[in-house]
Amino acid sequence: MTLTDPTTSSDAGAVLDGPALWSAQAHMPTVLGRQLVIDRGEGAYVVTTEGQRLFDGTAGLWHANVGHAHPELAQAAYDQMRRLETYHVFARYANDKAIALGERLAAIAPMERAKVILNSGGSDSIDVAAKLARRHWQREGRAEKTIVLSRDLSYHGLHAFGTSIAGLPFNREGYGSDSLVPETARVAQHDLADVERTILELGPERIAAIVTEPVQGTGGVHPPAPGYLEGLQRLCREHDILLVLDEVITGFGRTGTMFAAQRYGVEPDLVTFAKGVTSGYAPLGGVLVSPRIWEPFYVDSVETPIFRHGVTYAGHATASAVALAHLDVLERDGLVARVGELEAVLRQQLDGLAARQAGVVDVRVAGLLGGVELAPELDAVRVTDALVDLGFISRPLRGNTLQLSPPFIIADEELVSFVAAIEHAIIQEGNR
Ligand SMILES: Cc1ncc(COP(=O)(O)O)c(C=O)c1O
Repeated sequence: MTLTDPTTSSDAGAVLDGPALWSAQAHMPTVLGRQLVIDRGEGAYVVTTEGQRLFDGTAGLWHANVGHAHPELAQAAYDQMRRLETYHVFARYANDKAIALGERLAAIAPMERAKVILNSGGSDSIDVAAKLARRHWQREGRAEKTIVLSRDLSYHGLHAFGTSIAGLPFNREGYGSDSLVPETARVAQHDLADVERTILELGPERIAAIVTEPVQGTGGVHPPAPGYLEGLQRLCREHDILLVLDEVITGFGRTGTMFAAQRYGVEPDLVTFAKGVTSGYAPLGGVLVSPRIWEPFYVDSVETPIFRHGVTYAGHATASAVALAHLDVLERDGLVARVGELEAVLRQQLDGLAARQAGVVDVRVAGLLGGVELAPELDAVRVTDALVDLGFISRPLRGNTLQLSPPFIIADEELVSFVAAIEHAIIQEGNR
């Protein structure tokens, strides 16, 4: 790839040459010429087109929980595509795999008698949850309950609703108003008193839902403060507000229980999921819906309303077949319980790292999800670059924090080596 000389370019300063692919969340001039192009996966490792083998310490974007290139999941996709790639689930149509996946997910949902809405990913799921929350209150005759609350440092994807409820300002800016979708508001990160104050200020009669990740991911890996989620649930019940847990990262074992709701002992009204439902082998997400919300849409009457939402790939048959095969692997190989074992190793390793390295200001762990926050004089971007040279992938998150979220299939020693490499890279950065 050649980079255009800005002095001779027709548009001085613009980098005009390079691949047509416009990368996501990328400063393109910086990215061009130093892209890491992944060619194949081998379990917990990926190999670049240059032949470099890297330990995938982030499981891609927190998705590859069973590791990469799993033959059983490839086979499930092949078998389903040979039968029927998909058939939509609009009106009276459905396909057998979407129905089977609905049953399977309802059986493991962190709520009784859940119904399941399927779609293509996490941002889709947030749109559905937010629309369904507003629709719920409108149907209840309380149409003024529209405001969606979310927490500082939250990330809920980048569709219109996710962008609007984001607690990361840089993802909200540049779209013409403070909130792309009207009627959203943020609360402080771990502060129940602030939630209560906000509810009373805005008026509980105007608030539809509170959306939160059980463990905030992109915001820097922040587990909930002790009692926070239970307190949030209490406030929601007191003020008749729906509790939406965004389990796009935490769902399907990442925190050592199938859903983080179970780890933290809360029963949400809606749960969004994506990534870990297929370990990323097919683009699939969805929402688990509690009876309080779905029952009125199932009443046997001509008056019964329709939830006017749906996308072509809702309940995609191949994605659903892959999800079913993936859940088989997760259960057969005991991978959720394995996360519990790996959590102990991760915690011990990170505590040791923090004790030895003054440049580490905080370490945070929940399941196989870790954040290492660095002192301001150490640059997390440079540390992750150094890690790549050492053969490990991490990612700089907001707050100068390194992301650790490897696949569940790793050996204890691989986790130990990952943290050792992080320590090495930190020392190298400190000596610059
Ligand atoms: C908590 C959370 N919610 C929603 C999303 C959006 O998911 P997607 O990128 O599949 O649209 C993400 C993605 O990282 C996420 O971490």
